[in-house]
Amino acid sequence: MAIISSCTATTLKDAAISLRSGNLVAFPTETVYGLGVDATNKDAVAHLYQVKGRPSDHPLIVHISSMANLDKWAREVPEYAIKLAGAFWPGPMTLILPRTNLAMDFITGNQDSVGIRVPSHPLASALLKEFEYQGGLGVAAPSANRFGRVSPTTASDVFEELSGYLLPADLILDGGPCEVGVESTIINCIQDLPEILRPGAITTTMISDLTGLQVNQIDTGINKPKIKASGLLQSHYAPKAKVFIAITPDLGDGFIALSDVSTPPGAIRLASPKDNKEYAQILYQALRLADNKKLPNVIVIPPTGDDLAIAICDRLEKCAYKS
Ligand code: TXA
Ligand code: MG
Repeated sequence: MAIISSCTATTLKDAAISLRSGNLVAFPTETVYGLGVDATNKDAVAHLYQVKGRPSDHPLIVHISSMANLDKWAREVPEYAIKLAGAFWPGPMTLILPRTNLAMDFITGNQDSVGIRVPSHPLASALLKEFEYQGGLGVAAPSANRFGRVSPTTASDVFEELSGYLLPADLILDGGPCEVGVESTIINCIQDLPEILRPGAITTTMISDLTGLQVNQIDTGINKPKIKASGLLQSHYAPKAKVFIAITPDLGDGFIALSDVSTPPGAIRLASPKDNKEYAQILYQALRLADNKKLPNVIVIPPTGDDLAIAICDRLEKCAYKS
């Protein structure tokens, strides 16, 4: 498997041809790196699930180059979803919509819906355009990490996660660090009102301001009481280090907080983002740094606010150590 670090029109064309031949191509998006596969190729998708170590009933997001291709994959698109697509695509937003026959069970995990996204990263966009020019219809791409682990935000993270599993013909495209740093907002558009299934850079307020509709929001609730039943909750987005929220660190524990929070004595500072945008950008890098330093624990002071703080708190809650 090769890492392509300076992508040209030729290398993108080769990458698109490689996808069309059934290989995997990891590529940057504005959120996190994705592991791309031809969304209509059953065998290639099976290989992808194997590389990720992901259960096969876990659906994939199909990436397309523009809204013009939406009706190939989705039907009965509600008016509010068309408004959302018009305003926030290309960008960090995934819409869950009723599927067409093109979105087969091996993409949707047997559900009658499909997740669709138009990413804005120039390399992702160029790759998807070239892929469609080569006759492709959509690229399914989960985050390019092993199942349950921290999403990669650089090409070297992808290499670290997947080099032991990718085949020689698979590729990693390097487009530098991701701008947003946390995965796309997922909006369920199956019902009368939009519902946020995973918070991200497109916020509840942005959605309700645009559509004039009430937005149902899953309760990410980092401050709500935690279920303490051992082993019942599966960790996602998790490093090897145990993540604890807002407790006092012991000597040698990692520590992540906004820059205006000082480092407690004996803790090892892993990141000092200046605001919530930078917090999202560097969170996964900081969690990976904890593992590279072989720290047993990381203490995280979550940000507050109704912007990216909601997405950050959601991921922190999911990766936090469940005792
Ligand atoms: O930012 C992102 O969305 C990144 C980049 C690469 O685009 N992709 C990503 O994919 O985060 P993944 O597979 O790691 O997470 C996608 C999530 C999964 O939790 C999956 O259950 C959900 O999207 N999903 C996909 N299709 C769905 C559907 N039809 N109904 C409900 N959830 C769906
Ligand atoms: Mg993922």
